[in-house]
Parts: sequence; structure tokens; C-alpha cells
Amino acid sequence: MRCHPAVPLFFAISPALAIPPPDFGFPEAPNDTALSITYQNNGNPVVVTEAELFGVEITSKEPTVAVETSRFQSIFSYNGSYVLLMVDPDARYPQDPTARFLLHWLQTDMTLGPQAADGTSQLINSTEPRAPYRNPSPPTNSSAHRYIFYAFFQHENFTLPSAFEGYSATNRTNFNLTMFLDESNLGRTPAAAMYFFVSNQTQVPQDFTAAAGGTYPGGNGDMITAGPGPSITPATTLATAGASTTATGSSSSIPSGVSETATATGSASLASATNGAVHTKVRPGVFLLACFMALPNAL
Ligand SMILES: *[C@@H]1O[C@H](CO)[C@@H](O)[C@H](O)[C@H]1NC(C)=O
Ligand SMILES: *[C@@H]1O[C@H](CO)[C@@H](O)[C@H](O)[C@H]1NC(C)=O
Ligand SMILES: *[C@@H]1O[C@H](CO)[C@@H](O)[C@H](O)[C@H]1NC(C)=O
Ligand SMILES: *[C@@H]1O[C@H](CO)[C@@H](O)[C@H](O)[C@H]1NC(C)=O
Ligand SMILES: *[C@@H]1O[C@H](CO)[C@@H](O)[C@H](O)[C@H]1NC(C)=O
Ligand SMILES: *[C@@H]1O[C@H](CO)[C@@H](O)[C@H](O)[C@H]1NC(C)=O
Ligand SMILES: *[C@@H]1O[C@H](CO)[C@@H](O)[C@H](O)[C@H]1NC(C)=O
Ligand SMILES: *[C@@H]1O[C@H](CO)[C@@H](O)[C@H](O)[C@H]1NC(C)=O
Repeated sequence: MRCHPAVPLFFAISPALAIPPPDFGFPEAPNDTALSITYQNNGNPVVVTEAELFGVEITSKEPTVAVETSRFQSIFSYNGSYVLLMVDPDARYPQDPTARFLLHWLQTDMTLGPQAADGTSQLINSTEPRAPYRNPSPPTNSSAHRYIFYAFFQHENFTLPSAFEGYSATNRTNFNLTMFLDESNLGRTPAAAMYFFVSNQTQVPQDFTAAAGGTYPGGNGDMITAGPGPSITPATTLATAGASTTATGSSSSIPSGVSETATATGSASLASATNGAVHTKVRPGVFLLACFMALPNAL
């Protein structure tokens, strides 16, 4: 039986999957090697999907981080430690990222916990964080910032460069990721990665979550509108009542009869940024806030 000509062609043109998408211009985990990030929202786990969009409350507390040992050969065959990094490339504004990168978390010496039923193994720190988790807090007049999590293989020759020691609350800006990776022998290729968006725009409920490409209720949901990064253009359409609106988490009210779908465009969609339903949980009080001031140091 002859091979169908379309089969090899399909493989030839199928895009290389990477997280985050290549047009970010930042280090990428190859082969779609996702880092599994889980936040807690009122006691309910929120497992981050790529390019998901959140209000600030969701990401306020340190998440658990895990790798899928059963799914990825590169991780399965590695039994050493990991270095975890979380960075914001969009500080203070995506269109003017003068503070890139803002270092949100730096944890070395993470080891694999036991494998859970879902095939993931939690990364557990055996030392104090080099820079403790700092929650996303983009300015209220900024569109959503991207937050990128990386896990790197911490090979035996890893050393923490002295220039990257002793982080305080005030010297997290202008973290030179390239220099850090080079000087610490981590290499440029992470073992696994994940990214999402967070906004603290005044119209965004603090417990808001939306799938990739989603937009905000009552807001422009502009997300990344300028500067480097993917052009994720929210295309808002009204769907039939209840068709794709899903309640997650608590028993907060859901806007009746309205759901929004949106499309991720550009190469972000190649990196499995899927179209999806917007999951909204609206706290009416949030809409009464009319604050036009940004906190000077909020990032
Ligand atoms: C990515 O997948 C390809 C094909 O399975 C494999 O040859 C390659 O070694 C993988 N790369 C990494 C870094 O895991
Ligand atoms: C990792 O694997 C190597 C050989 O594959 C073994 O010698 C070593 O003891 C293992 N380390 C741990 C922590 O399991
Ligand atoms: C692990 O990190 C947490 C904070 O993220 C810290 O409170 C804890 O002491 C660390 N564990 C060890 C063993 O250092
Ligand atoms: C979000 O913005 C409000 C002001 O609208 C501010 O009080 C709050 O601290 C901000 N939250 C975060 C996490 O930055
Ligand atoms: C450190 O180890 C990694 C992985 O084995 C390797 O790629 C890198 O070249 C090493 N760096 C040095 C300075 O030996
Ligand atoms: C951060 O500031 C502290 C003092 O507040 C200093 O000891 C440390 O070296 C600084 N670290 C970096 C990476 O700038
Ligand atoms: C970061 O460090 C590299 C050298 O490791 C340097 O080429 C680059 O210009 C630095 N970036 C910034 C923004 O300072
Ligand atoms: C955001 O607000 C601050 C403080 O009011 C202001 O200095 C800054 O220019 C504003 N930035 C943008 C991008 O709107």
C-alpha cells in the first residue's frame, strides 16, 4: 500500500510547538513541554492553560508547579533538580517595557515529588527561594501583562552568579534573563514552560478567568496591544444563551444569557492557544470602582 502523499506533507509543514510562542522572542520550551501551574481560588484549583487571562486575585498566592513526567521523554529521563523562574516581560507597560524582565520568582533546587494520578509530579523546593513569589500586579492603566514560568534542568555545573543574589522587594526589575541563563550554565532551552496574562484594569473582576484570546466583561480587553509579543485580537461574538458559559469555582453569579468567544491569531495559536469559552464570575462591586490612579510601584 502506497503512502498517501498528504501524510509526509503534513508532517513537513506541521509547526514546531513551543511554549511560549516563538514570536515572543524569549526562551522556548520545545515540543510543547508544558509546565503545569496550579493556583488556588477560594479553595478551588485553577490549572493554568496556555495564554489564559486572569484577574489579579487568581494569581495572588504562590501556585504549585509540576511537570508531566509521564508525557515528556526529556523530563522522564532526567532525575536531577530544577530551577524555576517566573518573569514579566511587560513591566511596566507592554508597549514600553522599560523594566523588562520583572523577576517574580526564582527558586533553585526543586526536586520531583511523587507522580500523581494525572501523570504530573510536583516540583518541591528543598531550599529557600532566591526570590520569593511576588504576585502579578500590573498597573491599573496597563493592558494585561504576560507572565512566563520556566523550569530549567539544574545540571551539576549550575552556579548562581553573584550578581543574581539577595533579591529584595525593590530590585526585581531589569532582570537580564539571557545573562542569568548564560552565567548560571542553565542553557537557553527550558525543560518546560507556561505563560498566561493578568490584568488589574478597573473593569476586570479580580477573580476573572478566560481562555486564551478571551476578553473582559465591559472592557476593551485589549491585552497586548503593542510592543513585542503575539497579536491576540479578541473577536467578540455573542453566542446562544448558556452555550459556552461555564461556571468555575465558587457560586458567584454569571451574566445571564451572554457568553463570549474569541480567537487567538498569529503564531500564538500555533502554540496551542485554543479558542475557548470565557468563564466569568462577576462581582458587581468591582464595576463601581472608578479608580484612575496607578500605584507608582505596581508591576
Ligand atoms: C522534540 O521532539 C523530537 C521528535 O520527537 C525529538 O527528536 C527531539 O529530541 C525533542 N526535543 C527535545 C528537546 O525534547
Ligand atoms: C539519577 O540517575 C543516575 C543514573 O542514571 C543515578 O546514578 C543517580 O543515583 C540518580 N539520582 C537520583 C537522585 O535518583
Ligand atoms: C520552600 O519555599 C517556601 C516559600 O516559597 C518557603 O517558605 C519554604 O521554607 C521553602 N522550603 C525549604 C525547605 O526551604
Ligand atoms: C489592583 O488595583 C487596585 C486599584 O484599582 C488596587 O487597590 C490593588 O492593590 C491592585 N491589585 C494588585 C494585585 O495590584
Ligand atoms: C553545563 O552542563 C550543561 C548540560 O550538561 C552543558 O550544556 C553546558 O555546556 C555545561 N556548561 C559548562 C560551563 O560546563
Ligand atoms: C538586591 O538588594 C539587596 C539589598 O537590598 C542586595 O543585597 C542584593 O545584592 C540586591 N540583589 C540584586 C540581584 O540586585
Ligand atoms: C543582557 O545581558 C547580555 C549579555 O549576557 C547583553 O548582551 C544584553 O545587552 C543585556 N541586556 C540588557 C537589556 O541589558
Ligand atoms: C498610567 O498612569 C500613570 C499615573 O497616573 C501615568 O504616569 C502613566 O503615564 C499612565 N500610563 C499609561 C500607559 O497610560
